[in-house]
Amino acid sequence: MRHLVTLNDLQSSEIIEIFALAQELKDKRSAGERPQLLQGRTMTQVFEKPSLRTRLSFESAMCELGGGASFFTCKEAGLDGRESVEDVARVIGRYSDVVTLRTFSHDLIKQFAQNSSASVINALSDLSHPCQALTDLFTIQEVAGDLSQQKLVYVGDGNNVAYSLANCCAKLGVPFVVSSPDGFELSPNFVKSLQENQTGSTLEVETDPQKAVAGATVIYTDVWASMGQESETERRKKIFADYQVNSSLMSAAAKNCQFMHCLPAKRGLEVTDEVLDSQQSIVFQQAENRKHLAKGLLVWLLQQQ
Ligand code: CP
Ligand code: NVA
Repeated sequence: MRHLVTLNDLQSSEIIEIFALAQELKDKRSAGERPQLLQGRTMTQVFEKPSLRTRLSFESAMCELGGGASFFTCKEAGLDGRESVEDVARVIGRYSDVVTLRTFSHDLIKQFAQNSSASVINALSDLSHPCQALTDLFTIQEVAGDLSQQKLVYVGDGNNVAYSLANCCAKLGVPFVVSSPDGFELSPNFVKSLQENQTGSTLEVETDPQKAVAGATVIYTDVWASMGQESETERRKKIFADYQVNSSLMSAAAKNCQFMHCLPAKRGLEVTDEVLDSQQSIVFQQAENRKHLAKGLLVWLLQQQ
């Protein structure tokens, strides 16, 4: 049974296959075709945190492909201690072809996958957000073409989104730079392991955001306080102040540099309205592509069963 808990579960060639399927299904949809490739297949979504894009992308993807979807909070599904994780996973697996999970604990998703006879997709944990990163690289390829000619610079918290972006860039040979304040970087061991394993691309750490964005073709940021870290918002505002993506930072990048954000954004904090609403911003194309990528991923994953 294939799962997507982190991007380490996918080979580079498999990511390329998923992108091709996503593009094909996106093009067909534009032409008015919605191939019913997952007719009679079922998806169960179990989320512990809020979601707009992830929940809706999977639900609408499944619906457009002819399948069905159910949604539970972790509490409703019994993952709050009502039953063991193993038992919930065994039961849901017997009802479903695919399960999406959004949790605080990354280990919970791993534990669930070990006990599931359905494919498990990580819909965001505190450590990783693989579906977001896949969508992001798919979007850059769609907008800019050759991924190897890009320089993706992530400015901000070394969080779940940054981890998965670094991982996806390493797999696809995309030069990636990460710029975070002291104490909020990606783990040095993780960076080292990617630098040792990646082929053809580079992963750089540059604390100074002005230096980091030199030559950037894409600048990417995310919230300074992720879900579950809301009580740290005020403290983080001060620490991250120099990491705001504003017009001045954008002008230090390559000409026509694109701006990306996984959303939801805190306007006026990690990014200004001026940048988010500019011609350079592709955040809503990126958000839309969550659905097309979800379709490619679901079809690919269920083909492996
Ligand atoms: N980008 C993203 O995962 O958005 P949601 O939290 O709304 O799902
Ligand atoms: N880093 C953010 C991403 C939201 C899509 C969070 O975990 O809240």
